[in-house]
Amino acid sequence: MNYKKNSRIILIGLLIFIHSIPGIAQKGVAQSKPISPDLFGIFFEDINYAADGGLYAELIQNRSFEYSPTDKKTWNAFTAWEYITPGYAYGSVNVETTHPIHFNNPHYVVLNIEETHQDGVGLKNSGFDGIPVKQNEAYHFSVYLKELINHAIPVVVKLQGRKGEVYAEQTITTSSAGWKKYTLELTPNQTDDSVSLVIIAKSKGTLAIDEVSLFPANTFKQHGNGLRNDLATTIAALKPKFIRFPGGCLVHGDGLGNMYRWKNTIGPVEERVQQKNIWGYHQSVGLGFFEYFQFCEDIGAKPLPVLPAAVSCQNSGGTWRIGGTGQHALTINEMPAYIQDVLDLIEYANGPVTSTWGAKRAAAGHPRPFNLEYIGIGNEDKQTDTFRERFKMINDAVKKLHPEITVVGTVGPAPDGEDFDFGWKFANEQKINVVDEHCYMKPEWFIKNQHRYDVYNRKLSKVYIGEYASHGNTLYNALVEAAYMTSLERNGDVVQLASYAPLLAKKGNTQWNPDLIYFDRTKVYPTVNYYVQQMFGNNDGDLYYKNLITGINDSTVSASCVQDSKTGDIIIKLVNLEKTFQSAHINLNSFKNLNKQAALTVLSGNENDKNNFDNPDKVMPVNSELDVKKDIDFKMSSMSLNVIRIKSKK
Ligand code: AHR
Repeated sequence: MNYKKNSRIILIGLLIFIHSIPGIAQKGVAQSKPISPDLFGIFFEDINYAADGGLYAELIQNRSFEYSPTDKKTWNAFTAWEYITPGYAYGSVNVETTHPIHFNNPHYVVLNIEETHQDGVGLKNSGFDGIPVKQNEAYHFSVYLKELINHAIPVVVKLQGRKGEVYAEQTITTSSAGWKKYTLELTPNQTDDSVSLVIIAKSKGTLAIDEVSLFPANTFKQHGNGLRNDLATTIAALKPKFIRFPGGCLVHGDGLGNMYRWKNTIGPVEERVQQKNIWGYHQSVGLGFFEYFQFCEDIGAKPLPVLPAAVSCQNSGGTWRIGGTGQHALTINEMPAYIQDVLDLIEYANGPVTSTWGAKRAAAGHPRPFNLEYIGIGNEDKQTDTFRERFKMINDAVKKLHPEITVVGTVGPAPDGEDFDFGWKFANEQKINVVDEHCYMKPEWFIKNQHRYDVYNRKLSKVYIGEYASHGNTLYNALVEAAYMTSLERNGDVVQLASYAPLLAKKGNTQWNPDLIYFDRTKVYPTVNYYVQQMFGNNDGDLYYKNLITGINDSTVSASCVQDSKTGDIIIKLVNLEKTFQSAHINLNSFKNLNKQAALTVLSGNENDKNNFDNPDKVMPVNSELDVKKDIDFKMSSMSLNVIRIKSKK
């Protein structure tokens, strides 16, 4: 037997076999490992007016007269409304509760029109500090009216400028002594960033009014009860792999009565249960769980709804993180019904249309399932016995009936400390699928912690970094986050999900800084941090390659290399935190069939540069091309994130 020849054949066979395994180096030093395909997503919380007055496209503030001093001490059912009696008209106005459209929506307005003098008596709403409208674009108006005197009343609806200019006008004539919904379309003949909606009753009588609504026809994907197009488009451009919603502290709420109950947020908007927002304003819940699921589907992100762990925020009743009356819990007797609510959410998202909750999803216009894979239970909860007992009950029930669902637990508000340690101990005991770590830290923390997850035990719970941000919106802040994100890719076998927080903040209504995307009534202002998230979200992979890049030190220069197995594209990210050019060597010898040109995207500037309201585009990614060689000596600009995307001919 020719032993030498045979062993050569075996060796060649082995090499051919190795070459044929996707992700295994064909030549040279590269080794790959699978990483989470869901790694970079977003966390939407209704904080900073992110929902009402923000992403939710409703233009009327306090549309159903449900604001109250519980939301904010100075608010009441008539907040954002004005009673108007133009000319010599007169009458009176009252907020009443005796015969509402629905018991969940108790307040409505009664207009008593005593004398019109042709002008009429009515109401005016200026939206969220002014209603922005665009010339020749359609706006959908709707209102519920009830004649309280037995005859028809003509009601004029107009969009009116600051000086009383009328941009659009239509008339409704009432035709019912019971609550009836009326709709019409208004198309303004001018663009104006601050108009009011005026509703004027033009004949004597008494009229009940509720649920006054105005939406642009051009919402995101043109959905009714939809989302603001520019904001939703900006979010979609992040290409998030998942959306965690609706909070945060908002979820476990300011006291037990304020816990977020998903069932209160679905169905006809006039029947949803509104409530105070823990961040000091109001939740109309017009943007409710159906709309969140729909948005996820629209932008190809997996839904990650978070439900309370049957306990309220430990800071309830006090200023955030200072004082408060502590964690309150549902009683053990209340738990079976609460657990059923959690299970019903899974049915609502995934169940057949023949199931009770699947039928409600279908009734809302979505017979197909929403393909729920993840569910979060709890947020930053204090790790008390009370919490643990309830979390375990919920987790056990979900795992028993829905082993296909990945449960995300919580390990407190910080990346270390007592709750973190107790939380992890509990997670390990209970074998919780994934736990949610939060870190709002100084930039130095992100630099120092680039090896944090290298040592996490791969056999225990996976990690969701549900909220992270360095303290600021400068390029430096954004780049330390980028450096940290390269380490998340390297550890994408244990870090399953990660999301920057908070996502949205409305100018002048901000409870938390920094945020990822600022906005006002008409414009969107993405931060530099946003562009980092966008560059990662658009260039993610599911295989991680190590040892291909030299010249990195994970303190001022960091890098990662991933491959998207769907396209075969190789993606290299390099971060330079130095104020000088730096070089790194990229060894591509392992890869065959790479295109000769790569797409290069660079985000760079001075360390304190930031995008602000006056200069929103100061730091933006710049696209160009790069020649691809087997060995690339890549020169990074000072203070830069560089993404090289190389297509391969499959
Ligand atoms: O993102 C803002 C808040 O920070 C979240 O509501 C909470 O989870 C965290 O403490």
